[in-house]
Amino acid sequence: KYPKFVKIVEVGPRDGLQNEKEIVPTRVKIELIDLLSATGLSVIEATSFVSSKWVPQMADHTEVFRGIQRAPHVRYPVLTPNMQGFQDAVAAGATEIAVFGSASETFSRRNINCSIDESMLRFQEVINAAKQRQIPVRGYVSCALGCPYEGSVEPSKVAEVAKRLYEMGCYEISLGDTIGVGTPGSMFKMLQTVMKDVPVNALAVHCHDTYGQALPNILTALQMGVSVVDSAVASLGGCPHARGSTGNVSTEDVLYMLHGMDIQTGVDLNKVIEAGDFICTALGRQTNSRVAQAKGRM
Ligand code: HMG
Ligand code: MG
Repeated sequence: KYPKFVKIVEVGPRDGLQNEKEIVPTRVKIELIDLLSATGLSVIEATSFVSSKWVPQMADHTEVFRGIQRAPHVRYPVLTPNMQGFQDAVAAGATEIAVFGSASETFSRRNINCSIDESMLRFQEVINAAKQRQIPVRGYVSCALGCPYEGSVEPSKVAEVAKRLYEMGCYEISLGDTIGVGTPGSMFKMLQTVMKDVPVNALAVHCHDTYGQALPNILTALQMGVSVVDSAVASLGGCPHARGSTGNVSTEDVLYMLHGMDIQTGVDLNKVIEAGDFICTALGRQTNSRVAQAKGRM
């Protein structure tokens, strides 16, 4: 039994672009977000308020956020790892944020320079400040199906971190297969465990497609009742911590699958393909979306 409606969280402008080696011009990022805003998407992750020493590509977060045309029915969350990021995001006009933790201790240290426990203290502070301003907070759990440093990750560890974020006040927990190593088997086991601690309607899946398993993994999650899927236009991206790992599952491919299953999304596939054409032309490369490639040939 599948959900009738699936909410797509478009993460291309953030997760997709954050790892690009050449700095993408700010106006290109803004135009990409504006094109995506006209596709019917209801959530577009716009940028991240992280340290520019750590992620130079996101250094223009304030200009990007101020430059976009915010559509009334679209929400534009931004990543905020700590209070400094939160304050900068609020100053730029952000009205929804996301904190990002990890189920792997080593990944936590390499990504945000602190232990999992320390990150939870920081997030609690950020979430409390967000609550005061009625800013909704999304929570990520990275390495939910494997870690580039530690290898396999116990589902119980994923559940523990997800539960902590949920209890702190995150309205939605996105379970990230950061390096795209999961399979329907590991997705099933992980979700089965996490769903004991966090209600399924508060869960999202965030799949990267390194091993070509993203769509089957998403299908598995849908079968288990998950109805929120993160994806990136043109399958942009890659993980800086894992050489060779590829971008998020392509929004176009997810839409093609969902619409083919008569699952509503409210999103116009052709318009997403156009946004993908725009960013791929700007980056000077071919799309990694199989659906966009196929439609381009027909
Ligand atoms: P740190 O170096 O430990 O921070 O970095 P600190 O608090 O010790 O401060 C050091 C310096 O950084 C100071 O500046 C601070 O002002 C500055 P200085 O005095 O040296 O000039 N600083 C900041 N600057 C801008 N914005 C901030 C900020 N905070 C401190 N928010 C920190 C800790 C968390 C900041 C750093 O490690 C960082 O920015 N990490 C972000 C890494 C990142 O963005 N990773 C990618 C996103 S996660 C992801 O992609 C996974 C996901 O897609 C899900 C999945 O696939 O699994 C979400
Ligand atoms: Mg990601």
